[in-house]
Amino acid sequence: MGSSLFKSVFPFIVFFFVLAISEGKPHGFSRVLKKEKLSHFRLYWHDIVGGSNPSAVQVAAAPTTNTSATLFGTVMVIDDALTEGPELSSKLVGRAQGFYTLSSQSEVGLLMSMNFAFMEGKYNGSTITILGRNAVFTKVREMPVIGGSGLFRFARGYVQARTHTFNLKTGDATSLQNTKPHQ
Ligand SMILES: *[C@@H]1O[C@H](CO)[C@@H](O)[C@H](O)[C@H]1NC(C)=O
Ligand SMILES: *[C@@H]1O[C@H](CO)[C@@H](O)[C@H](O)[C@H]1NC(C)=O
Repeated sequence: MGSSLFKSVFPFIVFFFVLAISEGKPHGFSRVLKKEKLSHFRLYWHDIVGGSNPSAVQVAAAPTTNTSATLFGTVMVIDDALTEGPELSSKLVGRAQGFYTLSSQSEVGLLMSMNFAFMEGKYNGSTITILGRNAVFTKVREMPVIGGSGLFRFARGYVQARTHTFNLKTGDATSLQNTKPHQ
């Protein structure tokens, strides 16, 4: 890909909330807020674009992408770690799997289409599905949660993503994300 802008934008860390059909006791990274089964999740999302073991890989681009300041036309496939703490080495609770496209000609704006596949405790094997717009330089980015499986059947709601830290030197950005599915 060769663009320093691109490399500097995409490693993230995540933080979120979930409301779904599951009944649940507090567990590790979540707590039940209401009888209506509103759960609050806080996770960190690591989107590693560079290095020897990237979790985000480019699979397509347009002939004009290289000359686009916003990398318009890029398609990336992701299998990003979701962790309990901000460090990549902290407890792995799931993976963000799917793809995003660089879909704006006027800013760095993504269409994100991904599942959060949980691997921890009672949530192991359950997923939520997120489809929405992520303008990565906007302070708070909101994306809809459009469904779920397992303990998250019938889930709907929203995610809010915030950049937590941003390291121009290594290209590592940290994004804070809130997910609030609502049924
Ligand atoms: C875009 O640039 C990269 C190197 O930065 C190059 O490998 C690739 O072929 C270029 N793509 C196009 C469509 O020109
Ligand atoms: C999650 O489920 C898979 C498949 O059932 C199992 O192999 C794995 O050990 C489980 N992981 C945890 C952390 O419970």
